[in-house]
Amino acid sequence: MQCIKRASIAGVAGYVPDYVLTNSELEQMVDTSDGWITTRTGIQERRILKGEALGTSFMAIQAVKDLLQKTATDPTTIDLLICATITPDRITPATANIIAHAVGATHAFSYDLQAACSGFLYGLDTAAQFIAAGRAKRVVVVGADKMSSITNYTDRATCILFGDGAGAVLVTADDGDSRYGIIDTICKTDGSGQDLLYQKAGGSRLPASHETVDAKAHYIHQDGQNVFKAAVTAMSDVVLDMMARHHLTATDITYLVPHQANKRILKLVADRVAIPMEKVMLNIHKYGNTTAATIPLCLWDYEQKLKKGDKLILTVFGGGFTWGAMYMVWGYDG
Ligand code: UT7
Repeated sequence: MQCIKRASIAGVAGYVPDYVLTNSELEQMVDTSDGWITTRTGIQERRILKGEALGTSFMAIQAVKDLLQKTATDPTTIDLLICATITPDRITPATANIIAHAVGATHAFSYDLQAACSGFLYGLDTAAQFIAAGRAKRVVVVGADKMSSITNYTDRATCILFGDGAGAVLVTADDGDSRYGIIDTICKTDGSGQDLLYQKAGGSRLPASHETVDAKAHYIHQDGQNVFKAAVTAMSDVVLDMMARHHLTATDITYLVPHQANKRILKLVADRVAIPMEKVMLNIHKYGNTTAATIPLCLWDYEQKLKKGDKLILTVFGGGFTWGAMYMVWGYDG
């Protein structure tokens, strides 16, 4: 659906914890090797949030505070704060409420949005719709996950992949120049993938019990190969759809910004949509898969290189299955 009043990203910030979990440290924990992890995933290290009782909100608050400071935004002027996460501080209340309170966004309403690795893009689309409808002028969208809280560090198939982090963007209504901002979004869902990437226990279907803890059912589980294939097909198809809808060729696109799940997935998607790897934002080597945080962390890392008028296609794939693409024209020089 096309936006009526166009929403634009006016600033981006991020936070990653200090602790670096390297491939060589993982070699001491499970039967794996730096060579296997690097060649099969492209990941060299990831960040882990250490510290008693620190949850996802801790990272998100740092990112949002930095965002408000660098964009010189008075927190009381924020209308809405959306937190995309699958690792909320608590099941209830929403982590977004905790973040809004901590940063002084006293006039904002806030809520969490759960779309796994697609959460940030879904959240950005939601922000754009609130702005298009005239319901909000300034929205903060934060993607944050403490994946280490649901990762089984005795399972080599998953523990090498995930990391912790948070990224946030300020979304504002355009100032009358409709050449910039979020042009179009495609969001997709297919619930038939629900058992291929999931956390078995802890919800209403299988609440926490001694048995679920003993069975390690509170950790993230995935059928890696099937998720891999689905991710490549879904992300390339949706990017091609978006390019066709706007008559874009690879030459027109400044950057493809893909969810950072596996470097091999990103290469295959880039090949299928014929966008060279130099135009693909990449930071999986240093953060791993931070779920809802990968896209804003990429934008944060590349912000200095971005120029007003750059054409970006964001694409995501995650548990659910959920996936999508967003086409935007960047609105400011980095
Ligand atoms: O963010 C949401 C979306 N998530 C994704 O997109 C993740 C998609 N999946 C993947 O990225 C990949 O499937 C993985 C990285 C999870 C696994 O890579 P793979 O190339 O698909 O490996 P595989 O599961 O086919 O396993 C190949 C071999 C197996 O050994 P055998 O049976 O061939 O002897 C595994 O046991 O590699 C073994 N293996 C490992 N070896 C060393 C699996 N994990 C490891 C490991 N270290 N960490």
